Amino acid sequence: MVPMLVIGRSGDGRVVEAGVGTSLMEEIRAAGFLELRAICNGCCSCATCHVQVGGEAAGRLPPMGEEERELLAESENRTARSRLSCQITVTQEMAGLTVTVAPED
Ligand code: FES
Repeated sequence: MVPMLVIGRSGDGRVVEAGVGTSLMEEIRAAGFLELRAICNGCCSCATCHVQVGGEAAGRLPPMGEEERELLAESENRTARSRLSCQITVTQEMAGLTVTVAPED
């Protein structure tokens, strides 16, 4: 399991043990952070799975794909730490990652 700190929109945070090979979006929702709506269910067409990533492990995330980049470009809340959580598959290298649910656009 891969421990990571997930912080919801209300500022509540807790450590989530994510499974290797799972979708980061699904792990965040399974942990009860349902404000991460993910309405396209991972098809990379809604951007409602937007998160901000932090910590050393953020530098070990896979690079962003073109579709992810284009969708995030439309977000008012995009920062240099923005990612779409449905596009990230959990790996052991992500241990210690901080994931904050982004404000709603
Ligand atoms: S769930 Fe829709 S883009 Fe990630």
